Amino acid sequence: MFRTVGLGNRSLLFMLAATRRFLPKYLYALASSIFLFTAGVFYSRHRFLIFQIAKHFGLKMPQEKESLAVLPLSEILSPKLDLTLLEPLVEGGNVSILELMVITQLAQRADPPIAFEIGTFDGRTTLNIAANLKADGNVYTLDLPRTGLGETQFELAPGEEAFVDKKESGARFAETNYARRITQLFGDSATFDFSPYQGKAGLIFVDGSHAFDYVRQDSVSALRLAAENAVILWHDYQQDWPGVIRALNELQQSNPACRSLTRIEGTSLVMLKCEDSRRSA
Ligand SMILES: C[S@@+](CC[C@H](N)C(=O)[O-])C[C@H]1O[C@@H](n2cnc3c(N)ncnc32)[C@H](O)[C@@H]1O
Repeated sequence: MFRTVGLGNRSLLFMLAATRRFLPKYLYALASSIFLFTAGVFYSRHRFLIFQIAKHFGLKMPQEKESLAVLPLSEILSPKLDLTLLEPLVEGGNVSILELMVITQLAQRADPPIAFEIGTFDGRTTLNIAANLKADGNVYTLDLPRTGLGETQFELAPGEEAFVDKKESGARFAETNYARRITQLFGDSATFDFSPYQGKAGLIFVDGSHAFDYVRQDSVSALRLAAENAVILWHDYQQDWPGVIRALNELQQSNPACRSLTRIEGTSLVMLKCEDSRRSA
């Protein structure tokens, strides 16, 4: 009898302590949520968060069928990896660590060692590509400046203004030794003049706007940028970004040069090896 009461008291004390620890977080989150759903909606990063919350609670997004064939990861990654991986921590908008391994592995093989990225964001992938290209390799990376918001050729996909509206494009490579190998370019990928880089890139990474019209247009630009044996990679072939899925499915069906588009196992990366495409075109 006494023992039961003792245990009950201990449980009560434990619950009180747990409540005391949790309460400040609860109240902070509650106050923040009131701000988020009122004045906060005027900030694009908050609108993105609201979109994520809606999805967490079951908001149904239009589903696109992921019809591309899947390429086993073992066909890309060597059994013994020898990669330089920098800035491993992932921010929302970055690629996963596995995707970074795939991209850097392909950067090592890029011939010529020139890469073109559409969509810089914080520059984590740019930095890692630069660190893995053969000596004297260069990366060109194009980003929409925050001042370009509201003035784009096509409408951006819902929620992605947050990736545009950032303090500094390419912040992760700005102070590094690799910055000298990286050229930052600014503009809207739908109207940017890619002609100086045409046919010159051994690796192209398409990761700009996820809206259907943009992915379609950026894919045309990527094919023009490609050197003879180039590899083109697209990011975010996944249900969060139906525009990407639809555009790449259509590209694979409609363009004979893109018949061999494949998604890479365990990732949302889609790859085209230009040597295959030219052989099968
Ligand atoms: C998802 S982030 C890119 C992430 C980055 N590639 C990485 O791996 O960490 C998308 C980027 O595309 C840029 N972007 C969006 N629309 C664009 C456009 N129309 N033209 C050029 N860049 C665009 C955004 O500013 C943002 O930096």
